[in-house]
Amino acid sequence: MNSVGFRLSGVGSALPEKVLTNHDLESWMDTTDEWIRERTGISQRHIGSSTTELATLASQRAMDAAGVGPSDIDLLLLATTSPEHICPGTAPGVASQLGLDCGAIDVQAACSGWVYGLTMANGYLLQGMDRILVVGAEALDKITDYHDRGTGILFGNGGGAAVIQPDPSGVGELLSWDLGADGRYVKILYAEHGGVLKMDGKEVFRQAVTAIQRTVTNSLGRAGLTIDEIDLIVPHQANIRIVESAWKKLGLSMDKTAMVLENTGNTSGATIPLALDDALSNDRVKNGDVVLFVGFGAGMTWGSALVRWNGS
Ligand code: UT7
Repeated sequence: MNSVGFRLSGVGSALPEKVLTNHDLESWMDTTDEWIRERTGISQRHIGSSTTELATLASQRAMDAAGVGPSDIDLLLLATTSPEHICPGTAPGVASQLGLDCGAIDVQAACSGWVYGLTMANGYLLQGMDRILVVGAEALDKITDYHDRGTGILFGNGGGAAVIQPDPSGVGELLSWDLGADGRYVKILYAEHGGVLKMDGKEVFRQAVTAIQRTVTNSLGRAGLTIDEIDLIVPHQANIRIVESAWKKLGLSMDKTAMVLENTGNTSGATIPLALDDALSNDRVKNGDVVLFVGFGAGMTWGSALVRWNGS
């Protein structure tokens, strides 16, 4: 599919220092630590900082890991569902904090945003760009009601980023991808201007499991690969039971899955790069591995991408 190759040459992430535990929530919400852990797999989430700060820090770390400076970046794509303003986008401010001199735009595809960004980056590489920062960052505490037990138990803040560039070696490649959206489901997860997230949790759960199955099957089919040929899965993670249900239907293994949900909660567009950075820190990816990224979220939107890894 990709004649210039594709590699994530540096990955970074950032979490705010302040932690909101299930026990903290217990003190003002009709819930328990046990219920939240059993029904979602979450023990704590991070709050504070801002989308711009988290995006900037994660991006700087990704650029340091790639060994590149501001003048090397040709484009910044920022996946966020918690922008600083309705207008302008958050990406230009992040680019300026980083000292970049290039285009910078927000990608609003909720929790699928970073996967959308990854596939968009591939298009720009094919048009001749050399290095693209694909960032996911969220300050979801700005749009979460931590007194609502249907949503307040799930969401937290974080940031993750990757520098993406061509790979002439022939190892690193975007093998296939699949994107989708279905606007009939806008109202199962949304926030009005100035409001907080409203969610029909059961319906989101159902739709998410279906969307994951469909998009993973599509990406595997386009790459001509089987489930067994995947070495690492980096999924969006909103609730451990969504991942487990979809994996059971697809025949994917939790052992091959990079999870950070327990400590971060659902960080929407930031989740996948955060989990990828964690997997890299734990030496779970080696060159030549097939890595599956899969996201789903409000919209509904969904997306997946299969990458043959070349990080070095
Ligand atoms: O990025 C995508 C974003 N969102 C998601 O992926 C969310 C997907 N959905 C979910 O994660 C789950 O639907 C929730 C975690 C939000 C809720 O879990 P559930 O298993 O769907 O619970 P439920 O709403 O069916 O409620 C079951 C019971 C009810 O009590 P009764 O009627 O059986 O007596 C609720 O009142 O659990 C009760 N309940 C709670 N109890 C303690 C609901 N929320 C809580 C809570 N603590 N926080």
